[in-house]
Amino acid sequence: MAVRRYEHYIGGRWIVPTSGEYFKSLDPSTADVVAEVARGTNDDVEQAVAAARQASKGWRDAEPSQRGRILRRVADRILQEADRLAQLESIDTGFPLRDCLAAARDVAARRFEYYGELADKLEGETIPVPGNHLDYTLREPLGVVGQIIPWNSPLWEGSRCIAPALAAGNTVVLKPAEEAMLTMLRLAEIMSEEGLPAGVFNVVTGYGPEAGAALASHGQINGLSFTGSVETGGQVMKMAAEHVVPVSLELGGKSANIVFPDAEMDAAVMWAMIAIFAGSGQVCVAGSRLLLHRQIHDQFLEKLIERTRQLRVGPGLENPDMGPLISQAQLERVLNYIGVGKFEGAAVVVGGERLSEGPLASGYFVAPTIFDRVERGMRIAQDEIFGPVLSVLTFESDEEAIEIANGTPYGLAAAVWTQNLKRAHRLARHLEAGSIYINRYFSSGVEAPAGGYKRSGFGRVDGFEVLRHYTQIKNVLVNLD
Ligand code: NAI
Ligand code: MG
Repeated sequence: MAVRRYEHYIGGRWIVPTSGEYFKSLDPSTADVVAEVARGTNDDVEQAVAAARQASKGWRDAEPSQRGRILRRVADRILQEADRLAQLESIDTGFPLRDCLAAARDVAARRFEYYGELADKLEGETIPVPGNHLDYTLREPLGVVGQIIPWNSPLWEGSRCIAPALAAGNTVVLKPAEEAMLTMLRLAEIMSEEGLPAGVFNVVTGYGPEAGAALASHGQINGLSFTGSVETGGQVMKMAAEHVVPVSLELGGKSANIVFPDAEMDAAVMWAMIAIFAGSGQVCVAGSRLLLHRQIHDQFLEKLIERTRQLRVGPGLENPDMGPLISQAQLERVLNYIGVGKFEGAAVVVGGERLSEGPLASGYFVAPTIFDRVERGMRIAQDEIFGPVLSVLTFESDEEAIEIANGTPYGLAAAVWTQNLKRAHRLARHLEAGSIYINRYFSSGVEAPAGGYKRSGFGRVDGFEVLRHYTQIKNVLVNLD
């Protein structure tokens, strides 16, 4: 099979890596090489930042409505090409085709539309200051923004950073993960074709410690957004601190999904399953801890196990219920955690092993796995596993549920299942997480802000809120005397 070779996308063109080196990108469903991708180094990042800097003035001074129009045209193109983009992303990540299609249409295209429409609505304020003065604020772009994203659904993670940054008048250098980047490269091409000026959006591919670190420590960027692990997030923040570059971090989670006896059981079972097995659990807000009230524990778990047994696991392109993990490394990490859970004394009630029969032989498949009798101090109750592994804990009172839910260093999301309004809102108030879902799981669109409490990071994505990260306020005082 002929494998396509991808260069960096810098200044509106494909640019050969300075090192002349390429690395292989695999389809995690088969471990087949699907592309060769430029291995970015300092020099490439240098070029990309220079291109973004050069394009910065023109883009920031363009009519906001014109910026918006280009972004909305990009949205239309994503919709037109959704099938193709979804296929590319499914091959690149192993995520089920249907999920990739939803990521293209309902998320990526929608974000370009949403922020395209906001581009000319970034208003300032007039402020009544003492004396005979006029005081007003301007909301201005930062300039050149670096963005580092992970491999789980680049269409999702990428559009979340790119669209608002561009709408606000910034130019962007994106460093996708070394495991999945093909849709971001295609997106760069689409954007050029739709009239985005050269250098406004650039993609440098490569490894984290090389291309990623070069971008994070660059002295000529004005802002940095990072999505990924807590550990790398901390490192990136240190690098950015060197040049006092503001960062936003969207990091990991160990989100609690809390079910009370008065919940609508069937809906709660269905969402508990989706919350952890969507994307094979490689989702930042995955509902990886299920907190069941003791009264319903047995009955709930029985239903959940029965439904989990029916999940079809297979190659992303075949539209399974669940695809593979992203890489051999992630496979090993997840299998290791399954071992840890067993060792700690939790009980595997379904799954618990690698799947490698027949067509699954060469891919990175793990069975949907549920651990019961998990205690809150166990590592499988504390660490982000980032795989299809659910930890079930039991509680008896609202207070205990809150205590368990808040008892990790993370704070990305939490869900509450109850028909009791007071209880639902009381918990929403006490749970330490950036997103609270009541009687469902996952956000329903791009309009509402999301992000972390505690070590899950800071800064918000989506909604209007993210624009605060991609703009800065200038105050102007005029003496009218
Ligand atoms: P990672 O945080 O190392 O990678 C995320 C991004 O950061 C990638 O683009 C990578 O190239 C880049 N990067 C890595 N090292 C860097 C450095 N020194 N300087 C600048 N950029 C760097 O995550 P990784 O290794 O892919 O996954 C490890 C674990 O992290 C996962 O098993 C999961 O638990 C967690 N993770 C969580 C995510 C989330 O959304 N919650 C996303 C990705 C990973
Ligand atoms: Mg990595």
